[in-house]
Amino acid sequence: MYLLFSCIILFLGVPSVGSQNTGSFWHVTDFHFDPSYTSSRNSCHTEAKQRPLGQYGDYLCDSPYALINSSMYAMRDIEDNPDFIIWTGDDTPHTSNDNLDESKVLSMILNLTHLLMEVFPNTPVYAALGNHDYHPKHLMPPHSNPIYNAVADSWKAWFRNDVAEQTFRNGGFYTLPMARNGSRVVVLNTVYYYTNDKLTANDSDPAGQLAWLDEVLTNATLAKEKVHIVAHVPPGHFERHRTKYWFYPQFNKKFQDLIVKFSSVIAGMYFAHEHTDNFRLFYNQQDNPVAAMFIAPAVTPWQTTLPNMIGSAANNPGIRLFKYNRDTSLPTDIWQHYLNLTQTNMTNTANWQLEYKASEMYGIRDLSPQSLNQLVLKFKRQNSEEFRKYYQYNTASIQPGETCGELCKKVHICSITKIDYDDFEKCVIGAVSAATTVCDWMLTFVLLGINAVIALIAAN
Ligand SMILES: *[C@@H]1O[C@H](CO)[C@@H](O)[C@H](O)[C@H]1NC(C)=O
Ligand SMILES: *[C@@H]1O[C@H](CO)[C@@H](O)[C@H](O)[C@H]1NC(C)=O
Ligand SMILES: *[C@@H]1O[C@H](CO)[C@@H](O)[C@H](O)[C@H]1NC(C)=O
Ligand SMILES: *[C@@H]1O[C@H](CO)[C@@H](O)[C@H](O)[C@H]1NC(C)=O
Ligand SMILES: *[C@@H]1O[C@H](CO)[C@@H](O)[C@H](O)[C@H]1NC(C)=O
Ligand SMILES: *[C@@H]1O[C@H](CO)[C@@H](O)[C@H](O)[C@H]1NC(C)=O
Ligand SMILES: *[C@@H]1O[C@H](CO)[C@@H](O)[C@H](O)[C@H]1NC(C)=O
Ligand SMILES: [Zn+2]
Repeated sequence: MYLLFSCIILFLGVPSVGSQNTGSFWHVTDFHFDPSYTSSRNSCHTEAKQRPLGQYGDYLCDSPYALINSSMYAMRDIEDNPDFIIWTGDDTPHTSNDNLDESKVLSMILNLTHLLMEVFPNTPVYAALGNHDYHPKHLMPPHSNPIYNAVADSWKAWFRNDVAEQTFRNGGFYTLPMARNGSRVVVLNTVYYYTNDKLTANDSDPAGQLAWLDEVLTNATLAKEKVHIVAHVPPGHFERHRTKYWFYPQFNKKFQDLIVKFSSVIAGMYFAHEHTDNFRLFYNQQDNPVAAMFIAPAVTPWQTTLPNMIGSAANNPGIRLFKYNRDTSLPTDIWQHYLNLTQTNMTNTANWQLEYKASEMYGIRDLSPQSLNQLVLKFKRQNSEEFRKYYQYNTASIQPGETCGELCKKVHICSITKIDYDDFEKCVIGAVSAATTVCDWMLTFVLLGINAVIALIAAN
């Protein structure tokens, strides 16, 4: 009798384990299409380079069309029927404004839009603008303009909603209910909060986006919806630098407060801009992790020109597949794919490979803030294998053996866990005083010293 019962329980129980309703979606970003790239003349960004450039790209350059085309077809080969695609912008190359104009910028945005529509004709795409999707770059005005309007015309088939189209025309942001009942996407224009957007520095709420977001999330709470938040520039601190914050401080605070306030309706946040593979955790007043933001690596391999980077400043091209629970909308896994550009350049064939599955490589059940917080606790251990993998994946495995010393590690962990700028600084300084080896102290001195020296020179 007992055995029979056990068998029935087993029989009923087993299928339910595998029956979680799992769907997938792509997150792809930062293509930075450079139409001037030519491997035959070894030039990109309109400049000649000192070394032979590969057909699919080079770490000193933005993306040739061959790389972009290859990345989109690789997405289709790997998963041709995702529930939706998130595309977080930055379509144009890193070059002087003098080499660009409004019509060139638009033609690149439209080129990538059409390619994505060609490769995934029946998939909903939730697209956001990046700071390079405007001319002059970064300087997005907090109101309607010809670029938002032209982009809205070409994204009409993705909006299929007049209200969304209208808010996009006015401010470059929108919200849409998703095909599955009870879920919603909110696409923001966080370029307004970026310190390079000089037009919004003195504005308390550019284009009224924060008030609008508060209202959308209030409505979602009442309707018991789960919300995916999508944008380009992330809040918080850049983990491969000692002192780089993206948002103006006042917007960083307001944004963090809003996310914590509405964390119970937020399924996930999908951001970009850093070109690295990373995540951020938001904590409430009681210091419990309540929301997670995923930052996807770029398609462009371009090495940033930002001074004083800690470690490698370029990355391998990446494309990111999420797994999620269709019933709860919560993301459950990342299947990160990448292109080993060194190898590609040697063989002249683009062989996109699985880099890692987060669940397997990190040993986590899902991507909930609680699971990720547990992972960060593992990162903190000495010689943490999880942190070593995280650090390799951070650049899409550009230099598998690259090491990250004590201070480097603290900067990464504090960037993940402290969105607030004062909290971040306290986290690093507090952590640094606990540094034990002479080597750590020297590294600390060098990194902190650079800023002190710059300040001294500036003062004199
Ligand atoms: C784009 O990629 C597809 C699939 O690999 C290939 O058939 C096509 O020729 C490529 N187009 C260009 C312009 O590279
Ligand atoms: C995008 O531009 C490339 C190169 O400039 C061109 O070969 C390609 O046909 C264009 N693709 C689309 C879909 O417009
Ligand atoms: C959403 O739910 C409503 C009411 O239950 C139903 O009429 C509609 O068909 C559902 N839509 C989808 C896409 O499932
Ligand atoms: C913002 O305020 C600063 C300081 O008052 C001023 O220099 C700057 O021109 C203002 N910017 C705009 C866009 O109004
Ligand atoms: C919030 O819901 C109200 C009532 O349905 C609606 O009128 C309003 O437009 C919604 N707000 C936003 C920002 O979507
Ligand atoms: C990428 O390819 C190069 C050349 O074959 C190789 O040395 C390197 O280890 C590869 N990187 C990874 C992460 O496999
Ligand atoms: C690209 O490949 C060529 C040979 O095909 C090689 O000479 C060159 O150094 C490579 N460049 C990079 C960045 O790997
Ligand atoms: Zn970018």
